[in-house]
Parts: sequence; structure tokens; C-alpha cells
Amino acid sequence: MAIALGSDHAGFALKKLIGEHLEAKGMEVADFGTFSESSVDYPDIALPLIAAVAAGDYPLGILVCGTGIGMTIAANKYPGIRAALCGDTFSARCAREHNDANILTLGARVVGPGLALAIVDAFLESSFQGGRHQRRLEKIAFIERGGRISTSP
Ligand code: RB5
Repeated sequence: MAIALGSDHAGFALKKLIGEHLEAKGMEVADFGTFSESSVDYPDIALPLIAAVAAGDYPLGILVCGTGIGMTIAANKYPGIRAALCGDTFSARCAREHNDANILTLGARVVGPGLALAIVDAFLESSFQGGRHQRRLEKIAFIERGGRISTSP
């Protein structure tokens, strides 16, 4: 199955590089835009991609914006999405192994292209370890479903 890619204008060049990198490795990519450096609003790019990942059309997605922060916030509002903003390969590996992250977010104005590609590789080459991490994800899912605890003393 293809990897879903998306970016705003600030992430456009890095998204293109990531797409070329993955295709050179024989992977299929599905490009959700944007397709130029003209300004766009990152939630408009995030929504179709995260909806497709949450629906199971793609196993994993990568979203890029200037800092990666806006894409991360937007993506994590969607049920079933666990987006991880990574600036190093250790975090990228743990995001898959511990958090079963299904979206990698990157800040194109934060990480250089070489590091960004290493982060992408670490993310895609790692897999969820389950076990105690599964229990924690279920507790996150409880919060996502509106689960609340009393805040009164
Ligand atoms: C666009 O200028 C910038 O705000 C956006 O790419 C991103 O960094 C938002 O979090």
C-alpha cells in the first residue's frame, strides 16, 4: 500500500524530496498536495489525508509544514490518528514502536533534508511493539471517545 504524503507551501520542497526518496526505494506514494509554493492553509491539506489514513486506505502518512506543529495539531484532532512530530531518528522509531503513530509530521524549516529523510526511513522501518504500549493506546482512545474523569475534589 502507498504512503500518503501531504504538505503546505512551506513543506512543499521537502515533500517532493521525500516522495522521490520513497519512490527510489521502490515504494508507492499518494500525493495529497499541495503542488506548488503558493500559500495554502495546512488544515485543508491535512484533512483529506488523515481521513484516508483513518479509513485504512493508507497504512501511514507523512505531513510536512514549516514547523510541523500546525500539521500535528490538526492531525491529532481526527479520531484514530496518532501524529508524531519528530526531529530525530530515535523519536521517529519510538513513535512507531511505542505509540503506533500512523502519521509522521516534519518541520521543513526545522530539520535539514538529510535528517528529514533519515527520520522518514526510521519511521517507516519500525513497527508497533504492542504489549504494555497497547494498553496505553487504549487509554488514549478512551480520551478520544470523550472519556472524562471527575475534576471535583
Ligand atoms: C506557514 O507559514 C506556517 O505557519 C506553517 O507551515 C506551519 O509552520 C504551521 O504550523
